[in-house]
Amino acid sequence: MQTLAIVKPDAIGAGKAGKILAHLEEAGFTVRAARLVKLTRPEAEAFYAVHRERPFYGSLVAFMTSGPCLPMVLEREDAVSHLRTVIGATDPAEAAEGTVRRLYAENKERNGIHASDSAENAAREIGFFFPQAELEGLWG
Ligand code: CMP
Repeated sequence: MQTLAIVKPDAIGAGKAGKILAHLEEAGFTVRAARLVKLTRPEAEAFYAVHRERPFYGSLVAFMTSGPCLPMVLEREDAVSHLRTVIGATDPAEAAEGTVRRLYAENKERNGIHASDSAENAAREIGFFFPQAELEGLWG
């Protein structure tokens, strides 16, 4: 099973991408695709459209377009729920000890990493960043 993670601009800017990737591999995930991208405003607005009525939406879009981020397709058994456990709660201050956000994130908005919250959203979010042909081309 696959899910989508995005190492966010705060973590890339702080030089934590390598540590986060190692953490995810040690948690049993295989990286199936990855790409360093700087989101445009329309891309970030579309990706987070589900949050458009929230008070933090404008700030979230500004943050997600502030620098490069690293979307990646991760695979392992029970990938969606396992990745959410491994990254921890949205707010790093509330995330469990040893989780990615507790270790590497700054605050509730600049929280280091995104993970899909359902199998349905994982499929949509993987498709947002990685065309099927690119995924097939990587792994033959
Ligand atoms: P993510 O898992 O990418 O999903 C939505 C994002 O919105 C979340 O991580 C945070 O970056 C951000 N977010 C969620 N809640 C808040 C909040 N209360 N204040 C600011 N940003 C938030």
